[in-house]
Amino acid sequence: MDSIAILDYGSQYTQLIARRVREMQVYCELFAWDTPRQRVEALRPIGYILSGGPSSVYEPDAPSLPDYVLESGVPILGICYGMQLLTHTLGGRVAPSGKREYGHAEITTLHPNPLLPEGNLKVWMSHGDRIEQTPPGFSVLASSPNSPIAAFGNAATRYYGVQFHPEVHHTPRGKEILQRFVFDICAAHPEWTPESIINQSVERIRAQVGKERVLAGVSGGVDSSVAAALVHRAVGSQLTAVFVDNGLLRLGEREQVESAFRKHLGAQLIIADAAQEFLDALAGITEPEKKRRIIGATFIRIFEEQARVLGNPPFLVQGTIYPDVVESSAPERSKAARIKTHHNVGGLPEDLSFQLVEPLRYLFKDEVRIVGETLGLPAELVWRQPFPGPGLAVRCLGEVNLERLERLRLADAIFTSELAQAGFLPHSRDESEQTSAQAFAVLLPVQSVGVMGDQRTYHEVVALRAVVSQDFMTADWCRLPHDLLARVASRIVNEVQGVNRVVYDITSKPPATIEWE
Ligand code: XMP
Repeated sequence: MDSIAILDYGSQYTQLIARRVREMQVYCELFAWDTPRQRVEALRPIGYILSGGPSSVYEPDAPSLPDYVLESGVPILGICYGMQLLTHTLGGRVAPSGKREYGHAEITTLHPNPLLPEGNLKVWMSHGDRIEQTPPGFSVLASSPNSPIAAFGNAATRYYGVQFHPEVHHTPRGKEILQRFVFDICAAHPEWTPESIINQSVERIRAQVGKERVLAGVSGGVDSSVAAALVHRAVGSQLTAVFVDNGLLRLGEREQVESAFRKHLGAQLIIADAAQEFLDALAGITEPEKKRRIIGATFIRIFEEQARVLGNPPFLVQGTIYPDVVESSAPERSKAARIKTHHNVGGLPEDLSFQLVEPLRYLFKDEVRIVGETLGLPAELVWRQPFPGPGLAVRCLGEVNLERLERLRLADAIFTSELAQAGFLPHSRDESEQTSAQAFAVLLPVQSVGVMGDQRTYHEVVALRAVVSQDFMTADWCRLPHDLLARVASRIVNEVQGVNRVVYDITSKPPATIEWE
């Protein structure tokens, strides 16, 4: 399969480059720029893209352009720092600039060339240093008032560079520029289709597990479901999926998982009925991190019990996706501080004696969804919004008990079904590309006075949270129509016993987080 290698120099946009290339159905992989040569060459890339990055080529330990990339003889596209590296390495001149150019700019294509469309192009700039002289053999392809050499190229070597970021949405024709590089300059064939992804994964899984038995923990989330579905496609009845019903699920969630796996896929699914155990363990606990730890530990105990009953299959499916893999090996990007104990909840400790099967290791989230649909998983499962491992426990502020959970579950179902009906939850590829949305209800440990009929009430408060976000690292509150909010509020106070007030959360992240705990 034709593949492109992307060398990561630490730009916050590097993953976006990879997603853009994958969207063209061309396989690509991200490598930290100093990855051992053999690992990169194993991909047999037909082109290289050098990402942007925060460094300056003049810094003492500045990341460099590995020799093997130039020796390979295949086309290269340098983006931002990548372009400066090409310049510096091939004998041009990069000038340190005191001033960063950041934001929208307009460039003009100077003459017809394979990389850039003609005319004026709106682009997104984010760079410090700038190119003062092209390397020998290169011509200037485009300029802007601030960047006289905004793009350059050498048709003979097929090396190109752009000072701006074609991978971001703020460069409206950026996709076309990347397409020109991938299809016209590298002559790639679009072979990375859902079918080929599935076939490749199936082969890999079969080669790994042979005739052995495999265990999968499914949570109802997209990743664990698609991972299990892929393994099921590969090894059928060798797979047993285990779903722990922790009693902290949304309305109808257990039934959805049951129907997806048993009816749609015909897979073996064991449901561990553990709601009471979780509730007992959570009794009296109100501190968010404590809730998380208790839920994590209880989950592990129950999952281990199930594995034992099944005779401890040697393989375990894990829904690790590509962004998790590349983030852990990315250069220089600051690793986010731990605000909440996230990923070890609903996960398993690393010292379990399973061998891991990770069929999504090379897939981005949107690819996971498309593969899921192609495998026949129902759309409502594949397109569902993210749901935290500790479930409703971190949305039921204060004490978690059955009565309050029921209240929250119902309020949440009213809110999300109204949103879905009004078209505010993502359910197709196009929408999710722009923004993902997450919306849910939160039950507050606060009572307020109300009046119903002629009666005074003293009941709990439900907060509604709806956010739009690209990556869930930052988020903005969703400007929902007032009529919709009014309908939801009135339905909740009328239909949910014990709630007499509804408020809407209008904080962004930061400074708030998406979840309340
Ligand atoms: P926050 O609240 O940190 O959430 O802004 C960011 C995203 O992560 C989800 N989230 C979790 N996911 N286990 C998970 O698997 C957790 O403990 C957890 N806490 C928050 C949250 O729903 C949002 O999508």
